[in-house]
Amino acid sequence: MKFPNDFKFGVSTSSYQIEGNGFEDGRGISIWDTFAATPGKVADMENGDVACDHYNRYPQDIELIKELGVDTYRFSLAWPRLFPNGGSKREQRGFDFYDRLIDELLAKGIEPLATLYHWDMPQTLEDRGGWADRSIVSQFTDFAIAATEAFADRVTNWVTINEPWCVTWLGYGSGVHAPGRQDVDAAIAAAHHTAMAHGAATRAMKQIAPHVRTGLALNMTTYRVEDESDRDLMDLKTLMDGELNRWWLDASMYGRYPTETAAAYGASLENVVHDGDMDVVHSPLDFLGVNYYSDSFIGLPRPEDKPAMFGGAFPFPQRSNGTAPEPHTDMGWPITPRGLYDLLMRIKKDWPEVTDIAITENGAAFPEGPGSDGTVDDQRRVDYLASHLQSVADAAADGAPISAYFAWSLMDNFEWAEGYRKRFGIVHVDYETQKRTIKNSGYAYRDLIAEHKASCNTLVESLA
Ligand code: FCB
Repeated sequence: MKFPNDFKFGVSTSSYQIEGNGFEDGRGISIWDTFAATPGKVADMENGDVACDHYNRYPQDIELIKELGVDTYRFSLAWPRLFPNGGSKREQRGFDFYDRLIDELLAKGIEPLATLYHWDMPQTLEDRGGWADRSIVSQFTDFAIAATEAFADRVTNWVTINEPWCVTWLGYGSGVHAPGRQDVDAAIAAAHHTAMAHGAATRAMKQIAPHVRTGLALNMTTYRVEDESDRDLMDLKTLMDGELNRWWLDASMYGRYPTETAAAYGASLENVVHDGDMDVVHSPLDFLGVNYYSDSFIGLPRPEDKPAMFGGAFPFPQRSNGTAPEPHTDMGWPITPRGLYDLLMRIKKDWPEVTDIAITENGAAFPEGPGSDGTVDDQRRVDYLASHLQSVADAAADGAPISAYFAWSLMDNFEWAEGYRKRFGIVHVDYETQKRTIKNSGYAYRDLIAEHKASCNTLVESLA
């Protein structure tokens, strides 16, 4: 595998999934605290109160990151740690935590990439309508300004919103994620307000700190239609592609929403888009973050599918008979590494204005833990990562402007509605003891990075 010489390798996490220390040091309640405390929402009623106790163990975790040899670490800021009730009242201890984290990363030579919003909204803001209410745009912008003032002297690269599609459609459409609302109008409003929030925050951030680079992390997919001669399915694909792949990308790059999907949203969208909004939305990305896990298969919706939009056709990575194609991961997500190559080449072709792509998440859930010799033999994750990295390398060789890859995740963590039973880490976490064990996939990733660096050094030497 050959990567460009200045290619960066990283690992990704998010605040609610790893930090723990839920209610100490003044952290406010987030929508995920509330959601997790609601029976029937999260598997086994688990929550992020303790998680990986990263809030207390961050120095050791940064040691681990160092040991993996990565260049960069993507984490998120817990909004309710900084502003416990949204609004403007700061919690200094929250700011201090991220100061320590960032300083420690830099001391170890690891570049920080901060995500502003990875799903843990202060509950007080949701009580006022959350992403479905227009006031969230200025609330989010104020939060972005405060974070920039505090940290942009040391953090250059920022993701404003992680996976706005999930925020919108899982949070307000199907309700399988916090805040758990099932209201298509609210979801369509959220689709617009997240797009606006990115644009408004980006402008404000650059005014204070012109050197910052901002991007969105979009969960993008390559759609496979079961029968391409079926017009209904192909129309459905156009709508779903507009809803998931194109919505925030066309919005930020060109200041417009995909025509067919916007038409399908109809009055629900028209009611929330005010004059001048599309100028706010239009805010070209400095880099596009792509979170890729698998291709999605479009078949006609089944009667038992929960309708959110388009007659129930969610881009679930499942065939219309409800089974996941083989092979698949512990999430039931099919393993489709070439889909990542196809997606990157599509971005190069369809959005030539995107000049920098980072894979901000890629990884797989498999359950393996330490064996009798203490090592974690997670060969399927080794293979998953290797095949997807091969696709990245191939796309780079074929001209896709890709500069970085972040594995999801540094360590096993709270996997949202699935609780702790799905493990995505390249480091194993024993939740009883909080012991971390680098899995074989972690060592394989470390070796791949080391080989890349060695080959770059050889090149430099041969040119000298
Ligand atoms: C993504 C999320 C991330 C993680 C992975 C498995 O949708 O951004 O937090 O849960 O899925």
